[in-house]
Amino acid sequence: MILLHHLDLFVLFLSATSCRSCGFSYGVYWNDQYICRYYFVFWSLQFDVYRCTGFDGIELHAALGMYFDQFLKDSVNDRTDKYGGSFENRCRHLIETIQAVGEEIGQERVAVKISPFSDVFGASDSDPLNLGLHLVKSLNNFNLLYVHCLAPHHSRTKPKTPEETTTSPLTPLREAYKGSFFVAGGYNQEDGNEAISSGNADAVVYGQLFLANPDLPKRFELHSALNKPNHATYYTPDPVVGYTDYPFLEDAHGIRV
Ligand SMILES: Cc1cc2nc3c(=O)[nH]c(=O)nc-3n(C[C@H](O)[C@H](O)[C@H](O)COP(=O)(O)O)c2cc1C
Repeated sequence: MILLHHLDLFVLFLSATSCRSCGFSYGVYWNDQYICRYYFVFWSLQFDVYRCTGFDGIELHAALGMYFDQFLKDSVNDRTDKYGGSFENRCRHLIETIQAVGEEIGQERVAVKISPFSDVFGASDSDPLNLGLHLVKSLNNFNLLYVHCLAPHHSRTKPKTPEETTTSPLTPLREAYKGSFFVAGGYNQEDGNEAISSGNADAVVYGQLFLANPDLPKRFELHSALNKPNHATYYTPDPVVGYTDYPFLEDAHGIRV
């Protein structure tokens, strides 16, 4: 397994919208004029930050019920214009955005995170596999840095289906996408290595394990024990704990290795 922990990416994370049950409206309901106006301000600010901070690229967050995911998923997107209805229409806004960002910074510096199988924040799809296939095939038209795809069982509130325990539901997407394909969601070192060696992924992305183990690459290298992530401190604002206070590996003399 190769660990890409030296790639600095700027994540374009649109969370100005939320779910119906929280009382906010979805961004997918905005009219075209509002989308354009919002984007003018949003992009100008984001590109300024991107340029000033010297990141290697941009990962567009189109997963987990966030803004673009709301356009992709038919449980939320009931637009009747060119951004709603068919797979092509629901993917249009994301594809147009990737095109625009690519023109600004170069397609090879743009990545995208997707989760066709997820159902969080009320954003789910009645045909997630074909939505995912349509999306990755459309992404083949770009020379992207990578596509980052979340595994179904991790990004969905329903339990694994029997098929999902024996096969990887991401395999068809991986086979359909011609560029670099990253997977994420519940992987440990062993099944991460398995995903790479079986050809199901070019790289594995770790979230919770990295949070709990600031020296995760070193621990993988040494096959040492891992700190267990503490879910109770994931979203606690006061006091802010559980983000920078997990211990590093230490040798017998108490020195970081
Ligand atoms: C503490 C914590 C907070 C997260 N917050 C968000 C979030 O606000 N929005 C989001 O889309 N994903 C969020 N994620 C998901 C991660 O971006 C990533 O996709 C996921 O953790 C990968 O799976 P893994 O942790 O099993 O490796 C969060 C993950 C963690 C551990």
